[in-house]
Amino acid sequence: MSTPSEVTTLTGPSAAELPGAQELAPRFPLTRNPAPAGDPQHDAVMGSLTFGVAFTDHMVRATWTPEQGWHGHRTEAFAPITLSPAAAVLHYGQEIFEGLKAYRHADGSVWTFRPGFNAARFNASARRLAMPLLPEEDFVASLAALVRADERWVPGVEGSSLYLRPFMIATEPFLGVRSAHELEYLLIASPVGPYFVNGFQPVSIWVAQDYHRVGPGGMGAAKTGGNYAASLLPQQEAYDKGFEQVCFLDAATNTHLEELGGMNVFVVDADGTVRTPALTGTILEGGTRAAILQLLRDSGRTVREETIELAALLDQIRSGQVAETFACGTAAVITPMGRLAGEGFDVTVGDGRPGPITTELYETLTDIQYGRRPDPHDWMYRLV
Ligand SMILES: Cc1ncc(COP(=O)(O)O)c(C=O)c1O
Repeated sequence: MSTPSEVTTLTGPSAAELPGAQELAPRFPLTRNPAPAGDPQHDAVMGSLTFGVAFTDHMVRATWTPEQGWHGHRTEAFAPITLSPAAAVLHYGQEIFEGLKAYRHADGSVWTFRPGFNAARFNASARRLAMPLLPEEDFVASLAALVRADERWVPGVEGSSLYLRPFMIATEPFLGVRSAHELEYLLIASPVGPYFVNGFQPVSIWVAQDYHRVGPGGMGAAKTGGNYAASLLPQQEAYDKGFEQVCFLDAATNTHLEELGGMNVFVVDADGTVRTPALTGTILEGGTRAAILQLLRDSGRTVREETIELAALLDQIRSGQVAETFACGTAAVITPMGRLAGEGFDVTVGDGRPGPITTELYETLTDIQYGRRPDPHDWMYRLV
C-alpha cells in the first residue's frame, strides 16, 4: 500500500510564509455592492445562524482562457451569474471547490485556518480535473479580498464563523468531452452557525455496503462535485433509515473504511492509540485530519495511518478495544460517531457519549481557531 507521503503533498505555504492580507487583497480590486443588505436583513441573518443558506454582499471572480491565462480578477456584488446552457460544467461536471472558515477572535480580528493547505488542495483537485492551476497566493488573496469587503458578515458568537466557498467551473459553451478552454474562479461566503444543529453531540452512522462514492483511479482525492453527487442517494437512504451520516467503504474490496460523505474518520483505541485510514488516492485529505494528526503527535500519542477493516473494527468496538470514533472536517470540526450500523450490525461506541480524546481534540483545535490558545504551527492567517 502507498505510504501517506507518496500520496499527499498538501503542505502549501504556511501562514508565516504568505504576504499579509492587506498586501494580497488588492489583487481582486473591489467594486462595492451598490445595494448591500440593509441592517434589518443583516441582523436577522446574524441573529439566527444556520449553515449555508445566507450569503454576503460580495463575491470574487476571475476568468481563465488559454490565451490570457488568469485575468479579470475582481471583487463585486454577490449576484446570479450568467452561463450559456452549453457551459461544459453543466454537462460534464468539470468543477472543483474548497471550504474554509473565517473566525472572529475576541479582539475583533478575523483569521482563517491554513489557507495554504486549501490552496494546495484546490490545485491538486484542478490537476485531477484537467483544469488550470490558480497561484496559491491568488487563492489566499481572494479570501483576503472578500472577507475584508464583507467583514460585517463575520459573526462573533461562540461556534460561528464565515464559511468561505472557493470554486472553479468550466464555462466554455461547448458540447464535447475535453477540458474546457474557458473557466471561471469564484468565491462566495456564508455566515454560519454549527453544522450539526445539536452541536458537539455524537452522530449515528450508516455504513454503506452497496454504494461507493469513489473508486481506484477515480476522483476521490479531489474535491469535486461528482463525488458529492454520488453520495446523495446513499445519504438520503441512510437518513430515511434514521441515520445522520454515511460512512463509505473502499470500492475495490468493500471491506475497509474510507470516509464519510464530507468528513474524514478516526478511531481511538482504549490504549490511547489513534488510527485513521491511510491516504491511498480514494480519500480526500482533510486539513482538519492533517491538523489532528499533528496535534496528536505533538502530545506524544501513537498515531497510525493504516487500513481499518470494518469487520475487525466492529469486533474491537464490541470488546471495548476501541473506545472512541469520530469524524472531522472544516464544516463540523470534530463530531463523535456514537453508533455504527449497516446490513447485519448495529454497535454503540463506548457509552455513546463524546469520549475524552475526541473532546480534547475538539477543544484544542477550536481554541486555536478562535485564538484562545497559542498556535505553535502558524496555522492561523490574519485576514482583517
Ligand atoms: C469528502 C471529504 N472528506 C474530508 C473532508 C474534510 O476536509 P477538511 O478537513 O479540509 O475540511 C471534506 C471536507 O472538505 C470532504 O468533503
